[in-house]
Amino acid sequence: MILHRTKQPLSTGLTFFLVLAVMLCPSLSSNVTTTATPPAPPSPPKNPERGDYNVTNNGTICLLARMGLQLNITYLSRSQGKAVQEIVNLHPNLTKQSGSCEAETATLKLSEENTNLTFTFSLNTTSNKYYLSGLELFVNSSDMTQPLMASNTSLEYLRGTLGYSYMCRVEQTLNVMQIFSLNTFQLQVQPFGVSGNEFGAAEECELDDDDMLIPIVVGAALAGLVLVVLFAYLIGRKRSHAGYQTI
Ligand SMILES: *[C@@H]1O[C@H](CO)[C@@H](O)[C@H](O)[C@H]1NC(C)=O
Ligand SMILES: *[C@@H]1O[C@H](CO)[C@@H](O)[C@H](O)[C@H]1NC(C)=O
Ligand SMILES: *[C@@H]1O[C@H](CO)[C@@H](O)[C@H](O)[C@H]1NC(C)=O
Ligand SMILES: *[C@@H]1O[C@H](CO)[C@@H](O)[C@H](O)[C@H]1NC(C)=O
Ligand SMILES: *[C@@H]1O[C@H](CO)[C@@H](O)[C@H](O)[C@H]1NC(C)=O
Repeated sequence: MILHRTKQPLSTGLTFFLVLAVMLCPSLSSNVTTTATPPAPPSPPKNPERGDYNVTNNGTICLLARMGLQLNITYLSRSQGKAVQEIVNLHPNLTKQSGSCEAETATLKLSEENTNLTFTFSLNTTSNKYYLSGLELFVNSSDMTQPLMASNTSLEYLRGTLGYSYMCRVEQTLNVMQIFSLNTFQLQVQPFGVSGNEFGAAEECELDDDDMLIPIVVGAALAGLVLVVLFAYLIGRKRSHAGYQTI
């Protein structure tokens, strides 16, 4: 008798919970799938592979970089007789790296077949902030009427604090000149103050913060849903218990 009595309200409560869960589940899963799987982008250029680059000074690493790089260039095509725009990914396994580190300037030079790309970083010793101050590109392909040369030494990109690394997971476009912009992917750099051959704590770009908002909103919504279900279950349990007592 006693066993029977305690069992009944629990099972009705459980049924209520299960019905509720089934009712909520389809909308929940459809919500998740619509936000988690965007349609495949139709644009042909694939994301570049991420490479690890570093510059050493007397055997210790003084500049660390990890990034995928994509050139967006415009040049006069020999075969088409007009200006064309081209997207070129750098291939880390085909890229040679070199560079130098000085007190207030550090450079990273990446060379691939017919391409040379040089990053110049500057350190402001007053504010202890570093930034990408210059980018220089040289490309010579047979279809170019003349080699492409682009350089801008008054940039202020990838701004970070001495002792920290700068990180940007999402794609970033660095405009250099009309004929050349650089797209970076999953970037982390530290051009100064590297210790122990590894990155310091990361300062993330604002774009990443926006990116983080979506998981936070989805997480909060899921947590809310769990609370609602739990509440419904407890109320259902209480009701069926009360119902049983009146009978
Ligand atoms: C430095 O670069 C070399 C060559 O790409 C790589 O083999 C090595 O792992 C890098 N070192 C670090 C600490 O990233
Ligand atoms: C390349 O640059 C042009 C402008 O110069 C821009 O319209 C285009 O969207 C860029 N493409 C990519 C893939 O970044
Ligand atoms: C790239 O730089 C290297 C070293 O300075 C040089 O030997 C090579 O000719 C350059 N390549 C191009 C395409 O400019
Ligand atoms: C260095 O930073 C200080 C303080 O932010 C600023 O006043 C100064 O102009 C900067 N110097 C350079 C060369 O950018
Ligand atoms: C160099 O970059 C700066 C900042 O993006 C820009 O204002 C300037 O026009 C560029 N210079 C050239 C020659 O394109």
